[in-house]
Amino acid sequence: MLDIHSHFLPKMDDGSKSTEMSMEMLRTSRKQGVTTIVSTSHFYGDNESPEHFLKRRAHAVEKITPLLTDEEPEILLGAEVLYFPGMSHSESIPKLAIQGTDLILIEMPFITWSDRIFDELITLQYNFQLHIILAHVERYQAIQKRGIYERLFEQPFYFQCNAEAFTARRSRKLAMHMIDNRMLHFLGTDCHNTDHRPPNMEEAKKVVEKKLSPNEWLRLMQNSEALFEKHKL
Ligand SMILES: [Fe+2]
Repeated sequence: MLDIHSHFLPKMDDGSKSTEMSMEMLRTSRKQGVTTIVSTSHFYGDNESPEHFLKRRAHAVEKITPLLTDEEPEILLGAEVLYFPGMSHSESIPKLAIQGTDLILIEMPFITWSDRIFDELITLQYNFQLHIILAHVERYQAIQKRGIYERLFEQPFYFQCNAEAFTARRSRKLAMHMIDNRMLHFLGTDCHNTDHRPPNMEEAKKVVEKKLSPNEWLRLMQNSEALFEKHKL
């Protein structure tokens, strides 16, 4: 099972606060069936260069590497890159792609989306031959105008939901709609810690199996893993 969105690296962002917490998050993930986890610490282009981010990330990885055993999932490195105007011409952005793939996780801004934003992202894909995964698409519903999700799903991107999308009442309808219409490409936990935002793949699994079927959960997992494989370089 693949968790494509997580903040388990220690002291990188508002995620894990210590190496101990990082290790606990990794072990919990593994117990819930996650075999590969992508580290996607926040990257904010307006106050950090990709190079500086990568240095910090390497340092955080060094902290946990000696503690890793076979009780944790395989770790792949990436970033959750917040949209910023001009990113399609930033030569360093491809360095933030998910390790060993041409996939990049992008966080949409928490403002009303315009065509300009979509155009910038399409140009980013084109300029660097990347494929965008839009992070936790369910989280913007309250701030977007009506109809914007129809526009969103027309875009040539992959879409990721958080596991929480299935457990929270406000987002479950959209998440189920995305599964039904084969628009949910990847699932992530977006786990930040061990208390109020812990690894929670298990809960999403329970909801999908109960509301849809065990087969539907299996299909979702297998499809996203196959899609991920397809994008390995
Ligand atoms: Fe996140």
